[in-house]
Amino acid sequence: MAWTALPLLWILLQGAWSKHWAAWMPQSISAFTETCVAIPCRFDFPSEIQPSAVHGIWYFNSPYPKNFPPVVLKSKTNTAHDIYMGRTKMLGDLKEKNCSIQIDRLSLDLQGKYYFRTDLGGYNQYTFSEHANLHILDEPYVLSPTMIVSASETELTCLVPDNCPDMKPSVTWIEIEGLEHHSAYARLEESDSAWTHISTLKFLPSHKNNGQRLGCKVTYPDTELEYRGYITMDVKYAPRILDINSSSETTEGTQVALVCVVDSNPLSRIMWFKEDVLLKEDYSRNLTLELEHVTFSHDGVYICAAENEHGRANKSMGLAVMYAPWKPLVNASGIAVEGESVTIMCNTQGNPEPTISIIKDKHVLSSVIFENELVLEIPAVSHEHDGEYWCTAENPYGQSNSSFNLTVVFSPLFLPESKCTVSKDTVQCMCTVKSNPDPVIVFELPDRNLTVSELEPELVHSQRSGYMVSSILTLHKDAGVPQLVLCSASNLYGHKVQELLFQDSGKLVWAKIGPVGAVVVFVILVAVGGYLIKTREKKNLPESSSFVQTDASGSHAGHSSVKKNLGKLENQFLSISERLILKKQQPSSVDSDYANIDFTKKNVKDSYTSTEELTEYAEIRVK
Ligand SMILES: *[C@@H]1O[C@H](CO)[C@@H](O)[C@H](O)[C@H]1NC(C)=O
Ligand SMILES: *[C@@H]1O[C@H](CO)[C@@H](O)[C@H](O)[C@H]1NC(C)=O
Ligand SMILES: *[C@@H]1O[C@H](CO)[C@@H](O)[C@H](O)[C@H]1NC(C)=O
Ligand SMILES: *[C@@H]1O[C@H](CO)[C@@H](O)[C@H](O)[C@H]1NC(C)=O
Ligand SMILES: *[C@@H]1O[C@H](CO)[C@@H](O)[C@H](O)[C@H]1NC(C)=O
Ligand SMILES: *[C@@H]1O[C@H](CO)[C@@H](O)[C@H](O)[C@H]1NC(C)=O
Ligand SMILES: *[C@@H]1O[C@H](CO)[C@@H](O)[C@H](O)[C@H]1NC(C)=O
Ligand SMILES: *[C@@H]1O[C@H](CO)[C@@H](O)[C@H](O)[C@H]1NC(C)=O
Repeated sequence: MAWTALPLLWILLQGAWSKHWAAWMPQSISAFTETCVAIPCRFDFPSEIQPSAVHGIWYFNSPYPKNFPPVVLKSKTNTAHDIYMGRTKMLGDLKEKNCSIQIDRLSLDLQGKYYFRTDLGGYNQYTFSEHANLHILDEPYVLSPTMIVSASETELTCLVPDNCPDMKPSVTWIEIEGLEHHSAYARLEESDSAWTHISTLKFLPSHKNNGQRLGCKVTYPDTELEYRGYITMDVKYAPRILDINSSSETTEGTQVALVCVVDSNPLSRIMWFKEDVLLKEDYSRNLTLELEHVTFSHDGVYICAAENEHGRANKSMGLAVMYAPWKPLVNASGIAVEGESVTIMCNTQGNPEPTISIIKDKHVLSSVIFENELVLEIPAVSHEHDGEYWCTAENPYGQSNSSFNLTVVFSPLFLPESKCTVSKDTVQCMCTVKSNPDPVIVFELPDRNLTVSELEPELVHSQRSGYMVSSILTLHKDAGVPQLVLCSASNLYGHKVQELLFQDSGKLVWAKIGPVGAVVVFVILVAVGGYLIKTREKKNLPESSSFVQTDASGSHAGHSSVKKNLGKLENQFLSISERLILKKQQPSSVDSDYANIDFTKKNVKDSYTSTEELTEYAEIRVK
């Protein structure tokens, strides 16, 4: 109430006492070219003056008549300067102290200061210093807030002077396509007696409206007049990640560039993260993360994040780095005691996850696919589990492997070749044992009250090969054949005793020769026979000697023909060499004669080797 009442009271008081020369008009008033303006005006003069007639003159740009300023309108004569002729009229009644004036068909050259001078007759002429500043416009003002932020309600205003009583402006917003939730409303506002038509446009700006030009258009009904004002919007908005590489696959050693393209206003700080670790950042429109020499450690999820004062955004992508499995790590105890459980753990890493196998002696013991670990459990190890194991890992990018040795310690184990053999002069007992660690082998002959070990080298000889030990006890037959021979073997893990069985060497002849030996014998006999046929023609020899097979056990198809051929040869010839052998052996043995042809490739001298399979020889008995 107080606000509005005060000026009114002031005006009333002025009117009542009016002791001064004074005028009231808007200091500033606007209008569009080609339209009109009515400048509201009121004046007053001291009350002691009682004028018979009240006249007035409007001057342009200068208050002093002696400067001869252009006369806008002189009420007494109703005349004006050329440029104002026909364009101006007094609106108010001067007698009522109303000096309002209207100027039509405005043009830019009419912009300036307008002064009023009153003529009350005689010397009572007065030019008021109060004046109106006329602004001639050719476009409306469009005002925007200092900052337009995306998604926050924004108002633009269009200011249109409305001071022409004959022409009322019509205001519309133009080029507002794409504005979201827009609406417009208008109101009139008075300021210092000048009126402004204010049109407000409300909308929700978005990043799409950044840089958009829009405006308001003013038209006057029934005229061609049109005025347009524009602004270009600077819409601030949070970053938007426009482009980021899609998840991809690469192999170790390659070079990779990850690109993140961001749109924001103002520029954003763009960052590349890998699992919360900031790798690179910059204020930019896009940021490229270059990985020079990709390794498995680059595998993972990459995040591009961008932020400015209006918000932040992020997007992620996965980079899969493919690589051949690493050399497997084996976690296994190297030594195990027979019967214990053993766990073999094989660890590796590859992408894709590899196929892992544990291999021993070219047999796959266990295998898994698409795993980084393989565990093999052997519930109870035996001597057979001793040896070299391979852990292999393979994927499409390569293979790798490692080996490890499992040593099993076990109590001695007798092998079937342990036995005693009686030959012409000697008794040989062999005790073959598998054992880890090395066993102590002892022969026991209870009937002779004899216990011998390799500590007596003249009786016992040992040979070692890996975990195998062969101990051979050689006795002279003179003392007779022992009835019972025991072999005892012991190491840290056990003690075992086994009776060694006897085997007659004579019965084994053909078994020892075997099929291969038989063929060799056949070839030799044919060769010998061939020689005999040739020499027989020249020399006659006694018929007594003959070759006879001793045992049928080794015979097969080939033998009948051998026998036939030999039969023909029997009564005929013998080579000199055979004769020599026969002569030499005749005195020592009567009922059984031996032709001993040794085909041994190696020159084995040890007597016991005759019972070993290593020795290849043929024994041909002559009756
Ligand atoms: C002056 O005259 C004009 C035109 O008749 C009128 O519109 C206006 O209200 C008057 N002003 C005053 C202060 O009386
Ligand atoms: C990421 O995208 C950029 C551009 O589009 C391309 O040059 C680059 O090779 C892409 N990187 C990967 C790993 O795909
Ligand atoms: C990234 O920005 C640079 C400079 O700002 C520009 O030269 C390059 O073309 C942009 N790359 C993309 C993919 O936008
Ligand atoms: C990515 O955005 C999500 C939600 O929009 C947010 O929880 C996460 O922290 C952001 N990550 C980074 C690295 O900025
Ligand atoms: C091997 O495996 C055992 C048990 O499984 C574990 O205690 C040990 O730490 C492993 N050693 C290595 C080198 O991985
Ligand atoms: C172990 O790896 C080597 C070298 O790659 C390869 O030559 C060998 O055949 C592999 N061994 C096995 C048992 O896979
Ligand atoms: C395992 O033993 C073999 C010989 O038996 C040897 O050549 C190899 O190097 C050993 N391996 C390891 C891993 O010790
Ligand atoms: C063997 O020796 C024991 C005592 O050392 C003795 O009692 C026994 O009579 C002996 N036996 C033979 C057959 O010599």
